Amino acid sequence: MKSKYRNLLVLVLILSSLTLMSADFPQWDVPADAAIVKNPVENNKMAVEEGATLFKTQCTACHGALGKGDGAIASANLTTDAFQSQTDGAIFYKITTGRGVMPAFKTLEKESVWKIIHFLRSFGKKTTDEIKKHAELKVTLIENDNADNEVLAHVNIVLKDGKEIIADNVKVGLYVKRYFGLLPLGENLYTDSNGDIKVSVPADLPGDTDGNIIIVSKVEDSECTPVEQTNTVKWGISTAETEWGKTWKSTRALWRTNDKLPFWDYILYFGITIGIWIGIIYVLLLVRKIKKLSDA
Ligand code: HEC
Repeated sequence: MKSKYRNLLVLVLILSSLTLMSADFPQWDVPADAAIVKNPVENNKMAVEEGATLFKTQCTACHGALGKGDGAIASANLTTDAFQSQTDGAIFYKITTGRGVMPAFKTLEKESVWKIIHFLRSFGKKTTDEIKKHAELKVTLIENDNADNEVLAHVNIVLKDGKEIIADNVKVGLYVKRYFGLLPLGENLYTDSNGDIKVSVPADLPGDTDGNIIIVSKVEDSECTPVEQTNTVKWGISTAETEWGKTWKSTRALWRTNDKLPFWDYILYFGITIGIWIGIIYVLLLVRKIKKLSDA
């Protein structure tokens, strides 16, 4: 019984010290000449979104998706007034110098760090609800007879009270699905003042055997809930018609299934397999013979 209580006490001690560790970090002084450095990167939507992407990959593990310091490793809260009252220069100094568990991000390009700082400012301005605006995505596929076909994506934002607003300047990703990964149909796409973004789809994309391609549309804005939609259209070139498609179908292609395998390949395969097994069994028999001889 007694040891049970002792274990409990140890557990409580460990947990409380962990929470204490996460609650407060000692004051972190920044040299005056570092603190006055101005952010050289223009604060626009594109910079903020690039910063958001970098933050997601490099920082959320410790700082959490919303910068509250509640990631897998306890770290500093970046949403507090105390944090936000610092200059960009001071924050830059801390990110590139590091302290304790906080790594020094020396290999990140300077420009990238400044962009992350633009993004960090959004934590101060907005409440969690505002950061996660509910986005709705409507995709229209426009078929053009004489020119490239087009994808029109329209984004709406639905507010908490059910009201819908036009989502201008929202980051959208438009892609064509490939065997591995996604082929972007454009770089840095943002909706216009009507909430629309339009891209054209090249006519020479390889599709499946029927010429189908899959269009993937996503709302990728750091201020919105992620939404994704896929549409299948017959806008690609049928693979059956291409050189590659013909190879795929040929009898001797390595990736064909058993039904297309030539008979001689079976004989060869089983012949080699059986041969190897006979060899192994022969060696085992020899070993047994040696053992018998030494026992005698
Ligand atoms: C391995 C965990 C970890 C990662 C990854 C990490 N941090 Fe930190 N960060 C910390 C910890 C822990 C602290 C508190 C350090 C201290 O004050 O001693 C901290 C502190 C900071 C501070 C100073 C906070 C203050 O109160 O002034 C900033 C700014 C910061 N991190 C930004 C970033 C950014 C930006 C990234 C990604 C590029 C990042 N961190 C990645 C763990 C991490």
